[in-house]
Amino acid sequence: MTAKVAVIVGSLRKGSVNRQFAQALAKLARPKLDLQIVEIGDLPLYNEDLEAEPPASVVRFKHQIESADAVLFVTPEYNRTFSGALKNAIEWGSRPWGKTSWPGKPGAIVGATLGTVGTAAAQSQLRSVIAHIGIPLLAGPEIYLNFRPDTLKDGEIADEGFRTLLTDWTAKFADWIGRLKAPAFSF
Ligand SMILES: Cc1cc2nc3c(=O)[nH]c(=O)nc-3n(C[C@H](O)[C@H](O)[C@H](O)COP(=O)(O)O)c2cc1C
Repeated sequence: MTAKVAVIVGSLRKGSVNRQFAQALAKLARPKLDLQIVEIGDLPLYNEDLEAEPPASVVRFKHQIESADAVLFVTPEYNRTFSGALKNAIEWGSRPWGKTSWPGKPGAIVGATLGTVGTAAAQSQLRSVIAHIGIPLLAGPEIYLNFRPDTLKDGEIADEGFRTLLTDWTAKFADWIGRLKAPAFSF
């Protein structure tokens, strides 16, 4: 069965390499995973005062997370951590108190930079935040993409070795989702 995965891209810019990577990964991951980008650019800055009457974008965002089988974070690296836009989305998903959208959703992190760091620092910090909100994260393979002009060809991952790694990642993430969806022990 195809698992439905909510994909959160931490960059808001149109030409984002992380968005391009997410789109290419979505093609490669089918039919094991159905990766659907959930937009976060229209979420207001988190403000507890807005919780009583949440904006439509917040209601829409939380619904999309809750109706997915799993969550994939596609993170850029800004100043050695993940973006404020991504943290803002995490805040909204975690609130109001007692109505968090995250716990128990299987998750994974990937990311792309233009530099050789490949989001290693951003992913490391994101992992600690994700653990706090109760998302059981896929441990590996870790995916750090140094995005170059020839990374994609016609919207697909051009490098054969990287395609193989992502195919393995897809199988492992699908397996992780399947394990966590298994019915809880019952009499
Ligand atoms: C504010 C800012 C801070 C950045 N800091 C880092 C950094 O710490 N490490 C890194 O590898 N790249 C850094 N970069 C470069 C990003 O990797 C590059 O802009 C990349 O394209 C961002 O992802 P996006 O294309 O999905 O927006 C930074 C870029 C910006 C705009």
